[in-house]
Amino acid sequence: MLHILYPIRNNYRQYIDLSGFWDFQFDLDNQGIEKNWNEGFSNGDPIAVPASWNDQFTENRDFLGPGWYQTTFSIPWDWNDKKVVLRFGSVNYLADVWLNGEHIGTHEGGHLPFEFDITNLVKNQKNLLVVRVDGHLSPERVPPSGRPYNFPNTNFDFFPFCGIHRPVLLYSIPKEGIEDITVITNIDSDSGIVLVKINLANEHPIESRLILKVDDTEITAEKSNKRKLIEARLEVKNPKLWTPENPYLYDLTMELFNNGEVFDIYTIKIGIRTIEVKGDQLFLNGKPLYLYGFGRHEDFPVTGRGYLPAVIIKDFSLMKWTGANSFRTTHYPYSEQMMNLADRLGFLIINEIPAVGLTFIKKHLDRHLTLCKQYIQELVERDKNHPSVIIWSLANEPRSSPLSKDFFHELYKFTKKLDPSRLITLVNSQGVENRAFEFCDIVCLNRYYAWYTDQGQIEKGIEHLSEELDKIFRRYQKPIILSEFGTDTIPGWHAQPPEMFSEEYQVEFLTKYIDLLKSKSYIVGQHVWNLCDFKTSQGIVRMGGINYKGVFTRDRRPKMAAHQLKKMWKK
Ligand code: GCU
Repeated sequence: MLHILYPIRNNYRQYIDLSGFWDFQFDLDNQGIEKNWNEGFSNGDPIAVPASWNDQFTENRDFLGPGWYQTTFSIPWDWNDKKVVLRFGSVNYLADVWLNGEHIGTHEGGHLPFEFDITNLVKNQKNLLVVRVDGHLSPERVPPSGRPYNFPNTNFDFFPFCGIHRPVLLYSIPKEGIEDITVITNIDSDSGIVLVKINLANEHPIESRLILKVDDTEITAEKSNKRKLIEARLEVKNPKLWTPENPYLYDLTMELFNNGEVFDIYTIKIGIRTIEVKGDQLFLNGKPLYLYGFGRHEDFPVTGRGYLPAVIIKDFSLMKWTGANSFRTTHYPYSEQMMNLADRLGFLIINEIPAVGLTFIKKHLDRHLTLCKQYIQELVERDKNHPSVIIWSLANEPRSSPLSKDFFHELYKFTKKLDPSRLITLVNSQGVENRAFEFCDIVCLNRYYAWYTDQGQIEKGIEHLSEELDKIFRRYQKPIILSEFGTDTIPGWHAQPPEMFSEEYQVEFLTKYIDLLKSKSYIVGQHVWNLCDFKTSQGIVRMGGINYKGVFTRDRRPKMAAHQLKKMWKK
């Protein structure tokens, strides 16, 4: 597994973005391999990359693959003495990759980057890149298939979009350069402590200089090194801490020298902050923290789950407008670009792996645990330096099972070992016992009283919610985030007195929930489900294959509840 430093451009590093129109064809009879499409195919149609394939055409929306992509590229002459890497930001669900007809690898699981060292495979003239994407649902995959009354039969409530969902980058780096950087920050009275670990590609005698830009001065650490690991501790007097209100970022630059000549530079932006739980409270930089925000989806008409910079900017604007300071990456990791913007704009993130709807069927258990560990490893490697990321979420709404506690305890310990600096949770659904909260650092609950139960009876639902929250807090004595609550609301549907599916019902439901949550000192966060309406599988409870719990429509227009949240959160 290559370390996943996001490609940058400077005098020593370059990248080419292969986004655009590729050739594509559906493999409806699954015969592409025997027909050697991996060596190239001539009758493909144009397709946009990055984007899901499901909504780009007038047929095959529900066909989950295999789909075959191909494109060509050339390598600049001055990359000849560099390491050349091919990097996919996200392909859902299973990708097989061929370069010039040679199979260079496979990756299972969407929403996380993977890459291949192609230094010894690329030719200076045209190179042929072919990718087979298989998105079909299966009980042995994570997330699993399951609900027979859904089409496609997902065991989760969002459409299983397939395709190359984020940019494919070709990048070049020095052969013996910086491979990975890990930063952990702390606060020690009036100093910020920055602990830095740098992984180098090879062991060789080099000089290195670490530079932390502090206003118009620099704090540096210089070393001569022969090992593959460089460690340094930098101290910043009276630091500008990273907070949602003032998300201050410092430039941390690593320079490598050979015989006094620079041969590699990598710069990352870091935020000095701490996150911790003490008693029944959540603390950021030693001060009590309360999370206001949403569950979301990477979802938009036509592009499906595809990377859309303008929609990312719009969603941050809408969340800021409501007064939100946080979101959970429901139910899968979001793009690196979104994480960088969260650092810059001051959003706090609960970062979730794609373990939604886990079933704990014995024969799939080992494979599910292996996949969840892979996801956690890839996610922590990718997002470990973001100040915005404060909590790792191991799963959303795992089915209750006597097997779940051991499963999540192992995953919890595995995650804590990878990153001891952040909190770990998992998200429990209505009425499901979850013994995993005995070891999780913080409790996250999705509750829909007065929607899936106590239908139409908000007061009764609030009573049941209040009783259950108190009971869970008494049991686990840990702070609680209500990580989902909301109602399906048809835009423009009105009723007085309020009635389910009306905008008035969504307003009253959210208002009464928020009033209750503010009365409980152990509640440290509230995330409304959902920021926007989003696409799901077809089923009798999802009209037109849409979940209408957004406080904004799928094309980002506000319902009455968006204005109500702004009124209640901006206070
Ligand atoms: C669940 C689940 C969501 C789903 C929501 C709903 O809590 O976590 O993914 O969309 O309920 O039913 O609307």
